[in-house]
Amino acid sequence: SYGKINIAIDGPAGAGKSTIARRVAGMLSYVYVDTGAMYRAATWYFGQLGIEPEEEEKVLQTLPDLVIELIPGEDGQRVRVNSQEATEEIRSLAVNAKVSRYAQIEGLRSRLVSLQRQMALRKGVVMDGRDIGTTVLPDAEVKVFMTASVEERARRRYREMKEQHQISLEQLIRDISERDRLDQEREISPLRQAEDAVLLDTTEMTLDEVSETIVSMCRTFVRERELG
Ligand code: CDP
Ligand code: CDP
Repeated sequence: SYGKINIAIDGPAGAGKSTIARRVAGMLSYVYVDTGAMYRAATWYFGQLGIEPEEEEKVLQTLPDLVIELIPGEDGQRVRVNSQEATEEIRSLAVNAKVSRYAQIEGLRSRLVSLQRQMALRKGVVMDGRDIGTTVLPDAEVKVFMTASVEERARRRYREMKEQHQISLEQLIRDISERDRLDQEREISPLRQAEDAVLLDTTEMTLDEVSETIVSMCRTFVRERELG
């Protein structure tokens, strides 16, 4: 792992974090870790058990039984929860609506954070989420805080849904804004830019432009470190 670094990418919903993190990982032959998928998997699990985010004691009681697997595959990452396939389900509107409320629970966060830190021990990881640069990997060599206007972020999500318009663009803007608000206002590791993170507004950037910007930041970092 000589020369490898860790890359932290944070920002609000729809900024392009996961698409870009996956691409950057591919370009550098690094490992991509989607921490949002872990909070989504936990949300799906508690939903199956009929435990609401307000029932914090029950969440903490059942937490030790939760096993999340992120399996890299041909067409993206697959997610299994206690051996059950949940890749599609964790992206449902039902999970979207509740994930930020479970994500406020300290015991759940500390459990997921320690798993995330383990995954990054050997370096060569691109990790995206909300608190990676501030809390999970404060020593990450490259940190990016990715944003875009809320209208652009909602439009991107709307395009992803294509014909299955289960929701209007206006409703998507409201949903995303509400999730951003909960993520920014929570007490434990809220969504915010780390002091040493580079702010990247992707509203008018293409995927190629964003991924090339980050890869060149990484190459510059490694070159400068080698020069001492
Ligand atoms: O893909 P999208 O931006 O919609 O969300 P995500 O990255 O899948 O994350 C879903 C939710 O999980 C976020 O809205 C946060 O509430 C929570 N999350 C978090 O609290 N901390 C992280 N490191 C990642 C996600
Ligand atoms: O992970 P996050 O919620 O930050 O965003 P994402 O799921 O990676 O991106 C949401 C959608 O926006 C994806 O369909 C991306 O292809 C698209 N996107 C884009 O069109 N232009 C960008 N500069 C970034 C993302």
